[in-house]
Amino acid sequence: MYRFKTLLSVAALLSMAGCALLQPGPNYAQLVKQMMDGSFRNEGIATTDRLIQDQANAACSEAQGANLPDAVVEAIQQAALKSVRMPSDGKFTGDWREGAKLAQNGRGMTWTDKTALPKDNGGNCLNCHQVTKEELSYGTIGPSLYQYGKVRGVLDPESPEARPIVEYTWTKIYNAKSYNACSGMPRFGHAGLLDEKQMKDLMALLLDPKSPVNR
Ligand code: HEC
Repeated sequence: MYRFKTLLSVAALLSMAGCALLQPGPNYAQLVKQMMDGSFRNEGIATTDRLIQDQANAACSEAQGANLPDAVVEAIQQAALKSVRMPSDGKFTGDWREGAKLAQNGRGMTWTDKTALPKDNGGNCLNCHQVTKEELSYGTIGPSLYQYGKVRGVLDPESPEARPIVEYTWTKIYNAKSYNACSGMPRFGHAGLLDEKQMKDLMALLLDPKSPVNR
């Protein structure tokens, strides 16, 4: 009898341990999908097809913060790089004053917006980045962009010497996944959120020595 009881409790212990080892934890991907599907509806220009991830975003979500295999990272970044269109007239910078307004402006892409066109969108940069010293309220998801051009030694953004950093910056704004497969930054050019002129104005904000970013 004693032996039988021992056997039973050993079996119970083993099955408990088995449960802990074999029982899968919550399926977070599914839970998040349910929550997202339940929280959004089609209204006006904001439709639920936005919830359908492209391959790159899906790969990053599935990894849940873990590193992706090198080959996948390389494939995502190469595809992103290929999507980037350089400015049609070869000029990378516009008006930093307009860029400053865009950086501040978080409007666009909502139920109450008439169109999803760039003209109705801001850049929302302040939501994630410090941009000027004067602005007290900004997000810190992204690195500070204060003094962006200055610390990189940009004296004239249209000069040949500045070309590497200028092309890097344009590419980053156009499709941030080009240099960081799982970047959390919106792909402004790739997703059609901003047009070429708006991106040039933001480039001037970051790179023009006269811009408040670099003073
Ligand atoms: C939702 C948050 C978010 C928004 C909005 C956002 N960014 Fe970013 N940005 C990031 C993050 C996070 C990084 C760093 C990771 C990376 O490089 O992808 C970053 C990196 C950058 C970099 C590279 C910095 C460096 O030192 O290499 C630049 C330039 C940049 N952002 C510009 C902008 C501009 C301009 C805007 C507005 C049009 C903007 N970002 C809007 C999150 C954001």
